[in-house]
Amino acid sequence: MNVTEALKARISVRAFKPDPLPETLVREILDIARFAPSGGNLQPWKVIAVSGAERDEVVALAKANLPGAEDDRPVYPANLWEPYRSRRYKLGEDMYALLDIPRENKGARLMHLMQNYEFFGAPVGLFFVIEKAMGHGQWAHMGMFMQSVALAAIERGVGSCMQEAWARMRVPLASHFALPDEEMIYCGMALGYADETKAVNTLRADRASVDEFATFKGF
Ligand SMILES: Cc1cc2nc3c(=O)[nH]c(=O)nc-3n(C[C@H](O)[C@H](O)[C@H](O)COP(=O)(O)O)c2cc1C
Repeated sequence: MNVTEALKARISVRAFKPDPLPETLVREILDIARFAPSGGNLQPWKVIAVSGAERDEVVALAKANLPGAEDDRPVYPANLWEPYRSRRYKLGEDMYALLDIPRENKGARLMHLMQNYEFFGAPVGLFFVIEKAMGHGQWAHMGMFMQSVALAAIERGVGSCMQEAWARMRVPLASHFALPDEEMIYCGMALGYADETKAVNTLRADRASVDEFATFKGF
């Protein structure tokens, strides 16, 4: 699999098979991802990987703390504007259409959202930890690292879903993992083998064309 193939093959998997991932494989994925770039080579990322009973504990913790709460670093800006608002709306509509859950069925939509807190059935959860004092630059570098994790994973046939849903659980997770005061969880990631029989995994999120986001000058 070359880089182009990996970029296209990586999608957000939202239904996993329960088959476990050995620690050696998760380590191998992180061992590749650590070559992600970061400004000043700060490598501002830390990872907590959970599997087995540790994963189940985190899932139970989330259940006990539903619906969680946003902190002062919300996932989206307030009152999302165009074109972002429509893009987000369309993603949701496309996903619920595949799941056959109509707009009126708020309960079923919520139930699907709650599956975030079960890692969509994935056997492994990753939590990406960053120091609170780090700025927007380092958060961007964390993103590069996370994409690297997802690409190294798909090269090995392992699917992933980045999960900012876990941001709502930052407080209980920090105490569960006894994070030092200066650290916080940015995001979660489900990791495992995609259940290809599930319609939700056929979702291919739209992308804007190059002309919609790029300007070329001086060519
Ligand atoms: C940082 C980040 C956090 C995300 N959080 C969630 C999440 O909590 N739950 C979810 O189902 N998808 C989540 N996603 C997946 C996005 O919806 C998805 O990447 C986007 O729609 C593009 O689709 P694709 O990943 O299948 O290409 C997240 C993606 C990123 C990059």
